Amino acid sequence: MIRPIVQLGAEVLRTPCQPVAADDLGSDELRTLIDDMHETLADAGGVGLAAPQVGVGQRVILAGSFPSGQAPERPTVEVRCFINPRIVEMSEEREPAWEGCLSFLRYRVLVERARKITVEFLNPDGVPARLEAEGFFARVLQHEIDHLDGILTLNRVRSPEDVVDMQALPKQDEPRAE
Ligand code: NI
Repeated sequence: MIRPIVQLGAEVLRTPCQPVAADDLGSDELRTLIDDMHETLADAGGVGLAAPQVGVGQRVILAGSFPSGQAPERPTVEVRCFINPRIVEMSEEREPAWEGCLSFLRYRVLVERARKITVEFLNPDGVPARLEAEGFFARVLQHEIDHLDGILTLNRVRSPEDVVDMQALPKQDEPRAE
């Protein structure tokens, strides 16, 4: 079932989420949440979604990567689910890039992120896993894990020049969403 995507201003977007408890792993409720998040993300055409964006304060995210008209060089990484994800390693090398968010499509924000990260998490069956990511996919993961801590790209703004209003900007001046 496609769920409505919670929009900027809602308290759930600025509230740190609770870890998924061991008892809840493999439950029907968790499976339904994950299925619904996949449907919601596919419908929105995005590359990542965090549970608080569908109103659920639990540490569950989806993240993937695929090329778009604006960014044909992006790698293809199938969207998958990460439960209780934790960044355990982060490169010192950082890169700025423009990011969009399904909870506020109107604004694009310049955010600096680590270029490479290692994430530990549980898969939907509760099996522990570890994954290394770099570039755009690492960015998506960092954006979604931020959501679990109640942090939005707007919280990471260092200067007003790092935010653009996509509704007001002429098409040719739009920064590319990474
Ligand atoms: Ni977002």
